[in-house]
Amino acid sequence: MAKKNVVVIGYGGMGGWHTRMIAGNKLENDGYKPPEDLENGSDCVNLKGVYDIKEERCELARERGLYVYPSFEAVLADPEVDILTLAVPNDVHKDLAIRAMEAGKNVISEKPVTLCSADLQEMIDASERTGKLFTVHQNRRWDEDFLAMKEVYESGKMGYVFNIESRVHGSRGIPGDWRQRKAYGGGMMLDWGVHLIDQMLMMIPEKVSTVYAKMDHITNDEVDDGFKMDVTFESGLVYRIEVGTTNFINLPRWYMQGAVGTAMLQTFDTHSGEVVIYKNDDEGEVKPVITAAGLTKTMAPRKPSSLDHLPLPEIHSHVHDFYRNVCKAIDGEEPQIVTHPQMMRVMKLMEAAFESDKLGRPVSFE
Ligand SMILES: NC(=O)c1ccc[n+]([C@@H]2O[C@H](COP(=O)([O-])OP(=O)(O)OC[C@H]3O[C@@H](n4cnc5c(N)ncnc54)[C@H](O)[C@@H]3O)[C@@H](O)[C@H]2O)c1
Repeated sequence: MAKKNVVVIGYGGMGGWHTRMIAGNKLENDGYKPPEDLENGSDCVNLKGVYDIKEERCELARERGLYVYPSFEAVLADPEVDILTLAVPNDVHKDLAIRAMEAGKNVISEKPVTLCSADLQEMIDASERTGKLFTVHQNRRWDEDFLAMKEVYESGKMGYVFNIESRVHGSRGIPGDWRQRKAYGGGMMLDWGVHLIDQMLMMIPEKVSTVYAKMDHITNDEVDDGFKMDVTFESGLVYRIEVGTTNFINLPRWYMQGAVGTAMLQTFDTHSGEVVIYKNDDEGEVKPVITAAGLTKTMAPRKPSSLDHLPLPEIHSHVHDFYRNVCKAIDGEEPQIVTHPQMMRVMKLMEAAFESDKLGRPVSFE
C-alpha cells in the first residue's frame, strides 16, 4: 500500500500530537514520545505539512522543519494531499470538513466531530456525495484501561453485569482556552464526554433505554465543567459516566459490578486495579463488624479464602492502528473502524444528556 499524504490543519496541542505520531522522532519532541515502532515515522502516512491561521503557530512549525501551507485553499489545491486531519476548535470542524471533501480530500476530524447531529448529518451527506472517507479520531478506543475493562466485561467471569462506572476526575477546571466558550463548542461533555460515551457504546452491544444527566457549572456558567450521566441499557445495566474538574480527591477510573464479581481500576494504568470473584465457598459463621450504633453482618467483609483476586488483563494496543485503518479503508481493503452511524449515535447521546439536564428528568432513547 502506498503511503498517504496527510496535512494537519491546526497546529495547536493536538495538531502537534498528530504531526509527531505521523513523523515520529524526526520532529522536535516536546514531551510526547512516539511508540517505538514509529520512531522514524509512520508506516502508512506521510506528513506533507501543516496549516494554522495563527502566524506564531506557523512560525513554530517552520522552526521544527515542517512545510507550512500559505492558506487552507492552498492545501485543497495540492493534488498530492490525500488526507486532512482537522485539529482545530470544535466549531470549525464542519465547515473545513465539507470544503475538504468537496475538494476531493479524505477527512479525519478531531473529536467531537461537530456540535450537533444536524451538522453531523451535513458532513455525512458531503461524504456520501463526494465518495470521500470521513471519520473522527476516537483515539480512546485504543486506551488500555478501557480495553482491559471491556475484556473483563466480555469474559463473563463476573456473571450478570448490572453496574459500570467510568470516570475521569481532575481539579483544574476547564483548560483556559476556547474550551470555556459555548460558541467554540466548549465544555467537558464535548471534550471528554464524547470519548467516554464512545467507549461505552463499543463495550455494551445493547440498545439504550434512557439517559439521565446532570451538568456541573462550578467554575463556568457558559458551558459544563463536568457532568454525571446514567445510561440504562435494555438489559437493565446502568452505565454511569462522570467527568469532573473540581475533584481534589479522585474516585477510581473504573468500577464494574457483576452478580459474582467486582472489578476496579484506580487510574489509567491497568496495574492499578483488580478483579475479585466470589468462589461460592462456605464461609462458616460470619463475624459481624462493630459500628458505633450496633453490629452488622450484612456489611462484614468476606473471608479471604472465599474470594479470588485476579489482575486485570494485560493489553498492548496501538493507537496508530487508527491511521492504518483509515489508509486501508481509503484503498477499499477494510471497512472504516469509526463509522458514520457510530459517530451519530455518540452525538445523539450527548444531545440526550443536555436535554435530560434541561428537563431535570430521564429521557428515553432508541
Ligand atoms: N483526540 C484527543 O484525544 C484530543 C485531545 C485534545 C484535543 N482534541 C481535539 O483537537 C482539536 C484541537 O484541540 P487543541 O487542544 O489542539 O486546541 P488548540 O487551541 O491547542 O489548537 C487549535 C489550533 O487551531 C488553530 N485554528 C483555529 N481555527 C483555524 C482554522 N480555521 N484554520 C486553521 N487553524 C485554525 C488555532 O490557531 C490553534 O493553533 C479539538 O477538536 C479538540 O477537541 C482531541
